Amino acid sequence: MLFDVKRVRDDFPNLQARGRDEKPIVYFDNAATTFKPCQVSSSTQDHYCHRTANIHRGVHYLSEQATADYEATREKARRFLNARSLSEIVFTKGATESINLVAACWGRTFLKSGDEVLLSEMEHHSNIVPWQLIREATGCVIKVVPINDQGEIILEEYKGLLSSRTKIVSMVHVSNSLGTVNPVSDMIKLAHTAGALFLLDAAQGVSHEPVDVQALDVDFLVFSGHKLFGPTGVGVLYGKESILETMPPYQGGGDMILSVTFDKTIFNRLPLKFEAGTPNIAGIIGMGAAIDYVRGLGWADMIAYKKELLDYGIRALTAVEGLRMIGTARNKAPIFSFVLENIHAHDIGTLIDREGVAIRTGHHCTQPVMKHFGIPATSRASLAFYNTKEEIDIFVRALGNVIKIFH
Ligand code: ALA
Repeated sequence: MLFDVKRVRDDFPNLQARGRDEKPIVYFDNAATTFKPCQVSSSTQDHYCHRTANIHRGVHYLSEQATADYEATREKARRFLNARSLSEIVFTKGATESINLVAACWGRTFLKSGDEVLLSEMEHHSNIVPWQLIREATGCVIKVVPINDQGEIILEEYKGLLSSRTKIVSMVHVSNSLGTVNPVSDMIKLAHTAGALFLLDAAQGVSHEPVDVQALDVDFLVFSGHKLFGPTGVGVLYGKESILETMPPYQGGGDMILSVTFDKTIFNRLPLKFEAGTPNIAGIIGMGAAIDYVRGLGWADMIAYKKELLDYGIRALTAVEGLRMIGTARNKAPIFSFVLENIHAHDIGTLIDREGVAIRTGHHCTQPVMKHFGIPATSRASLAFYNTKEEIDIFVRALGNVIKIFH
């Protein structure tokens, strides 16, 4: 194995944190947010301590520096996604805001009554509710592709639901609650054949595998910095330039204009047209450091290591008495959602927290997934490349102790 997890762990001081009763923390809540390497915190700290200024507005030295640092992240994000142009990289507050932006600006402009938006049963609420808000405004119709009991999108149903009425497909790359990795390349081709656009929610996807927007020919792609080992409160909307050009701004304010009179405003060029107001400059700079960090790890070795963690975790959890795994897709990320017979997820989360193990319990902002499986909640352990098999052992032992308490 070429991936040197011990060395990588040194970059994440948070992995040395202590939990309740001074227990070492096993952090398995990476789908909620990831830990940040020192490189990220030092870049944001450097901005705040030595290079603070507003961007795009000053002729003075510090403003030029801050602008250059901020715009450097745009180039890093462009390369990370292999976008054609910097105009296609819009900075937002995160994946949620990116989807809301597309729903509001593209949806409000182009959706008419009876037009269809196609989602899947495994979408995060952030890829459902923005479309419902636009449904109220436009009279468009939301159609939902069902999933099977492994937690995979049923492709035959997907094909059947695509039609000339479908104007946009908005679907997740890697499910946050099931771990399923969707066959997005095929799904995008099918959407395009039907004449629909495709928005890819890659919030969990961009840390799982490399994403090439040109190879995918995807129309929109969204992700958050904080799930990519970067700061909270920042994210990216990728959109094809030809489509972004046709969309009105999302919010009005400074930086998104070329000129303003009380009669008329001329909007700024892309991508600034969509970036009103002073953004989270330090956060964006930190996201650039996170992108550099992930690119520096080497995808092939990292992916192979995470597959080892996945296989090891599946074997270990399958041996736990009374455990039902929710999400058993053939292609999945190391996200383990499960229920234990007669034990509520919150009890599991609370009890294993006493042993230092951090997981998320609940519906994970995917209530339709819970409905599909007929359960109110799951316990979810979501792993990142800095996790280890030894941590999986601690987690599984902690689960064994929970079962002993309840039986
Ligand atoms: N969407 C995040 C999660 O899956 C917060 O936990």
